[in-house]
Amino acid sequence: MKGVIHLRPLASRQTRLPFVLVNMAISADGKIATANRAVASFGSPRDLAHLYTLRATADAVMCGAGTVRDGAVTLDTGGARYRQLRLTRGLAPHHLRVIVSGSGHLDPELPIFGALSADRAGKAGVNPRTPSASRIREPVRSAQSARSAPGLPALSEFWPPGTCKTRRPPPESPPVPFSPAPLLILTTERAGASQCARLAAVADAVVVCGVREVNWPGALAHLRARWGVKRLVCEGGGELNDALFRAGLVHELHLTICPLLIGGRQAPTLADGVGFTRLIDAARFRLLRRRRVGDELFCVYTRRDPRG
Ligand SMILES: NC(=O)c1ccc[n+]([C@@H]2O[C@H](COP(=O)([O-])OP(=O)(O)OC[C@H]3O[C@@H](n4cnc5c(N)ncnc54)[C@H](OP(=O)(O)O)[C@@H]3O)[C@@H](O)[C@H]2O)c1
Repeated sequence: MKGVIHLRPLASRQTRLPFVLVNMAISADGKIATANRAVASFGSPRDLAHLYTLRATADAVMCGAGTVRDGAVTLDTGGARYRQLRLTRGLAPHHLRVIVSGSGHLDPELPIFGALSADRAGKAGVNPRTPSASRIREPVRSAQSARSAPGLPALSEFWPPGTCKTRRPPPESPPVPFSPAPLLILTTERAGASQCARLAAVADAVVVCGVREVNWPGALAHLRARWGVKRLVCEGGGELNDALFRAGLVHELHLTICPLLIGGRQAPTLADGVGFTRLIDAARFRLLRRRRVGDELFCVYTRRDPRG
């Protein structure tokens, strides 16, 4: 079927996988949204700028179906400023966007599919069914535009020199036209053939990888080999984060700890899903950097070597 790729299990454990980092804004009690999922935007404009800046270091940005269903998330670059930042770092002007949905139940009318649908229809710009690209921001992190943040952070504020490597010499600042980033859906055999075909009509590729849950080593190996993804940012939600933590595939954790308490037993947290039942198995990290900006704390944790 056109646009649908069925992956075989990985033949070798030696296959190179992307560097994976999880980036989330959490309340002081570890929540990522309210219990009714109505509010997930509580970071400052500064935090939103941080999210876009981090995306501008990555080849791909990924989130779970729950996040796409709950909000007007588009996983975009954040605008010309951030695309320029990508170019100066030797990256493509747009990152690959990845949605994870084991069931494949995603409404093609969701905003994330909008720009691509319009592009396929041969129109410049956006799908008339959805808000304009400039209005689709990332409400999951902040209702305010990152552009209104007082003094956008330089990359070096969060990553000291040398932590982000430029892969090739910066090109001479060409104008960057609007063209939507490619969109890939990672799914499983739970999504039937007709579901996959429906998704293939609104995405660049549908990758079937796993029976009930995504087979992460296989999926990440595919992202690296087929799409050139060396650095992947995962932006939640809690269920997807948990799957990656349990698979032991998260190298870095970027947390913005916001000065509020959300509470609520049903409110999603940084890592939900199945979790670890034994402390010895818990995903462990070391605090690498932290920076206070106003009342928010920007923290970077790095994975502890499981043998260490
Ligand atoms: N504060 C923040 O920074 C932040 C960031 C992101 C999200 N959020 C909020 O978090 C909430 C969503 O979190 P969530 O935990 O409910 O949902 P989620 O992690 O975004 O998505 C869960 C869904 O993703 C798919 N999925 C995840 N792991 C999978 C795996 N290993 N294999 C196959 N499919 C997998 C499944 O889709 P199917 O159901 O299709 O099988 C699952 O139901 C939203 O309210 C969102 O606004 C907040």
